[in-house]
Amino acid sequence: MTNHEIKIAFQEYTSVKELDTIDQDLCAEAVKAMKNSHSPYSKFRVGAALRLKSGKIILGSNQENVAYPSGLCAERVALFHWGANHPDDPIISMAVTAHTDEFVLQKPVTSCGACLQVLAEYEKMQNQPVKVILFVTEGPVWVTNGIESFLPFLFFEDRLS
Ligand code: THU
Repeated sequence: MTNHEIKIAFQEYTSVKELDTIDQDLCAEAVKAMKNSHSPYSKFRVGAALRLKSGKIILGSNQENVAYPSGLCAERVALFHWGANHPDDPIISMAVTAHTDEFVLQKPVTSCGACLQVLAEYEKMQNQPVKVILFVTEGPVWVTNGIESFLPFLFFEDRLS
């Protein structure tokens, strides 16, 4: 038997204001994206913004449905839009934020496993990591370069592609 240990790396900033302007702008886009969140069931609004190499910004927000499992997270709404429309324009960074009137979010919302797996697929496809910026308006910001810090055991099998 062998024990293994995996360490993950991420940076924490105390606020969005500590980021460089280009990342601050992307965070502002993620906040804008929350406006179109359709979340009458959870009342939990999530916004995601992707910055592409060309400078184009893609927005996504969570879209819920009365048939609950039919809904989709903000990240995958944005990522699948990218895959369907801009697959040749690499994703440089993704900012994600959330808000609810029900309670105070003191730390960033970390993307669910399904969204991380989708991001992992597109990182492989574009052969370059995506900078992920998770933040809440009045709280800390967590930044990582590439998906493997968040999902070290992501599923990937080259022979399936
Ligand atoms: N949600 C996201 O949009 N992204 C995440 O990373 C986690 C959860 C959404 C799904 C659902 O609409 C609501 O937040 C509550 O789970």
